[in-house]
Amino acid sequence: MNKGSRTISQYGEIVFTSSELERDRLVSLASIFDSTTIDCLRAIGVAPGWRCLEIGPGAGTMASWLAERVYPGDVIAADRDTTAFESPPRSNLTVTIADVTDGAAMARLGSFDLVYARFVLMHLNERRQALGNMIKSLRPGGWLLIEDLTDLPARSPLTTEGMAWLWNSLGRAIGTDADWGRALPDPLSEHGLVDTDVAVDVPVVRGAGPFARFLSTTFGSTLNQLENAEVSESVERFLRSLDDPEYIDWPLALVSAWGRRPT
Ligand SMILES: C[S@@+](CC[C@H](N)C(=O)[O-])C[C@H]1O[C@@H](n2cnc3c(N)ncnc32)[C@H](O)[C@@H]1O
Repeated sequence: MNKGSRTISQYGEIVFTSSELERDRLVSLASIFDSTTIDCLRAIGVAPGWRCLEIGPGAGTMASWLAERVYPGDVIAADRDTTAFESPPRSNLTVTIADVTDGAAMARLGSFDLVYARFVLMHLNERRQALGNMIKSLRPGGWLLIEDLTDLPARSPLTTEGMAWLWNSLGRAIGTDADWGRALPDPLSEHGLVDTDVAVDVPVVRGAGPFARFLSTTFGSTLNQLENAEVSESVERFLRSLDDPEYIDWPLALVSAWGRRPT
């Protein structure tokens, strides 16, 4: 990969590369969204005895929650890069390296009552293939839960400009698509899943709050790791506003979509 060129790379290669800062970023991401995800998993009916697969678990908070919930069932947490994963060891939790776009590697993991991924497909160029592989990993009657962020019209033009810079930079670098989440849950029905549905949560970004700090770190990583990355004066003002307790906006929604493989 020629760093800084327009050649598409992958998550973790030129941006969001493994580091202490990236782990902290993933931990703060989890602290913002875990409670919403847990509500969805409870609504799906995840229960003791289930066999679960989480793709791209990041820091591992949800894999850990699942392992506690499904015991004596088991959880496989599969990521291309497991270095950020940190969870107390559990007899029913296995952490393994696997790429969701690799059909053979996915098939080796077996079949599951639940397959789950948050903030993974939006960052993949081969998201349709990845989705197909996840669906093939479902047992008959098994549930798929996909969660991704999508952008919303912001309150402030500064936010609009800032977020457009971020999505465009990540789109060019690794293929991130913040529009994909808006299509959900249709791709699940198109792959033959039934009982599909969707829930949308709009977290507020308050200056100096946890989501603002997460966005600041995400911008910082993107700026530091993409060679030749530059921001305009208005994007710089947006970044400063993320530290201002008076700032408030809601430029993003969490889309949670689920469906079941027919029995
Ligand atoms: C934005 S993080 C999300 C982490 C976690 N799911 C969360 O929501 O807190 C994306 C995760 O997906 C992993 N990932 C990216 N591409 C992947 C791939 N092709 N196969 C498996 N995991 C992948 C990354 O290593 C990272 O852990």
